[in-house]
Amino acid sequence: MRRLHAETDAVQLRKHQRSTNTQETKKAPSMPTLHWVGKEKVVNHHHDVPFRLLDKQYSFAANEGTPASSTDNRIIHGDNLEALKSLLPEFEGRVNCIYIDPPYNTGNDIDKKTSWTYNDSVDDPRIRRWLGNTVGKEDLSKHDKWLCMMYPRLKLLHRLLHTHGVFLCSIDDNEVHRLRLVMDEIFGATNFIAQITWDKTRKNDAKLFSSGHEYVLVYAKNLAAIQAAKTVWREEKPGAREIIDEWKRLRLVHGDDFAQIEVRLGGWFKGLGKSHPSKKLSRYRHVDKFGPWRDRDISWPGGGGPRYDVMHPTTRLPCKVPERGWIYADPKEMQRQIDLDLVVFRADHNDPPIRKAHLIPSPAELDTFIAPEAEDAQEEGLDDEDGEELSGTQVMPTYIYKQAQASVKTLRAIFEGKKVFANPKDHEVIARLIRYVTPKNAIVLDSFGGSGSTAHATLAANLDDGGTRRFILCEMMDYAETITAERVRRVMNGYGEGAKAVPGTGGGFDFYTIGPCLFDEDQNLNEEVGEAAIRDYVAYTEGIRPEHRWGTDNPVSRYALGASDTAMWLFRYERGQVTSLDMDFLGSLNLKAHLAAGNTRPEQFIVYADKCALDADFLFKHGITFKRIPRDITKF
Ligand SMILES: C[S@@+](CC[C@H](N)C(=O)[O-])C[C@H]1O[C@@H](n2cnc3c(N)ncnc32)[C@H](O)[C@@H]1O
Repeated sequence: MRRLHAETDAVQLRKHQRSTNTQETKKAPSMPTLHWVGKEKVVNHHHDVPFRLLDKQYSFAANEGTPASSTDNRIIHGDNLEALKSLLPEFEGRVNCIYIDPPYNTGNDIDKKTSWTYNDSVDDPRIRRWLGNTVGKEDLSKHDKWLCMMYPRLKLLHRLLHTHGVFLCSIDDNEVHRLRLVMDEIFGATNFIAQITWDKTRKNDAKLFSSGHEYVLVYAKNLAAIQAAKTVWREEKPGAREIIDEWKRLRLVHGDDFAQIEVRLGGWFKGLGKSHPSKKLSRYRHVDKFGPWRDRDISWPGGGGPRYDVMHPTTRLPCKVPERGWIYADPKEMQRQIDLDLVVFRADHNDPPIRKAHLIPSPAELDTFIAPEAEDAQEEGLDDEDGEELSGTQVMPTYIYKQAQASVKTLRAIFEGKKVFANPKDHEVIARLIRYVTPKNAIVLDSFGGSGSTAHATLAANLDDGGTRRFILCEMMDYAETITAERVRRVMNGYGEGAKAVPGTGGGFDFYTIGPCLFDEDQNLNEEVGEAAIRDYVAYTEGIRPEHRWGTDNPVSRYALGASDTAMWLFRYERGQVTSLDMDFLGSLNLKAHLAAGNTRPEQFIVYADKCALDADFLFKHGITFKRIPRDITKF
């Protein structure tokens, strides 16, 4: 029998972790790092955090009639250190975007023992106890404490992030410089992307300077991987959204009759007021299956471009080459553009064809290779000769202006005019950032949930672009239910009355608390948690895909955890008993039922039991890997 060749996700993940760790180790000597009192106690603390199960308390689904949007969201009530650890088996390497808004540490450190406010509005005794137990020193400054609190949480967040994932963290002048050094240490300085300045207010009563801004730090898990995937981040320009909405409306009425849609869209542009932001984009009046487009020059911007034959599809003669030569250095790229329907030929070959530029560039357009010199020349002037925009999308600047007051008003409107939370973040700004850096099916995580702005932002982002992003929020305080979850319920169902009514986004979430530990202090299984929870955990740690997992009622064996095309997993566990991998057990497996259902015979069997009665040769010959309970159960 052959050995297993295909690697499970878990194996690949562990290899990836090993290589990431090696890279970290290699980088370490040359990188300046920050030191603080208590650091040595927290750098590896995330390994010691006990693994706890999440306890589902209830599920919420928005009222009927709201859009069928984002479901499978989570709100977790508890300390994020434990919550993040509990998320590892299911979400390690899967989170596309982390946005956090941790305490800014603005509290005054007058009496070190009592008044340090680790969280600008909450001085939670649990965190003080945690610091006492973990760091155990009395002489910590407020900055030491803040760093001790953040470090292990950032370590876990880093592990949860997808290779192409993006980490965003709000912060202000109090800790930004320390946070950047710690982020450089954990994420790697080469993964720094941007430090966005978010301007919120002007204070005229300031004595020296008016500092009304804060920051959003942006880091990649692996910037090189993002660049290798040729990722281009763009957002819509003002006015673009209205054109897209009109195009969608016309498409519903006229289907694929693009000529009719062009006529109607032209009329719509004419009817706009002079100052309407869409007016600047009115050359996007042509349409095809990708949406509105405008024509664009197909010649090499600076002149001296390549000259080769491009055949006209009707006359079958070479088209006139533009004076400046073609924009595509390689004729193969020109042919690819023609095949993608991004080149429009004129009536005959006597005029060069034109290039389509879509308002929202299609993936193929973003992937277009234009020689760097030509690209530079194009970028120099953002507007073309008529002063019109060359694209309906733009790169985001690292400066955002949005007054803090807007988010305060939104939260009050959701809670019938009451002020329930100080300094909520603006969900529209977060939605803009989420849309900018994530795919439409992203998992978004916020481990400092507060009033639930990130959940609101995720729902708003989905509403805006039809996405199915999911969110996971953690909140330690008891208002996780009364404010965090309550806001999300209201946003999903709709809130406000009369002219101020805001329709529901739809969706649903599960509310969890942090449950018991899976292992006791001696690393034995805590059997109180029940067989189902242990089976789930082992299935996760083995990297068995959800679609390959089985319940105990499967036809092979009540001990089978699942099977892929190549492997089958068995977990021979009985509470309070010693189980064995032996011939009787193998004989009890109903493999015939598995094969009869059209499956191939697995090449490898991974069998968990308390002991093994079979010798190594037999195991090798039959492709069996024995794993001892609990020793070989992966610990996160
Ligand atoms: C600055 S607020 C976040 C506000 C949020 N972005 C909003 O817009 O409402 C920080 C939140 O993190 C919570 N928090 C602080 N430490 C925590 C921890 N260890 N685990 C979970 N939540 C925590 C605080 O209770 C507080 O609600």
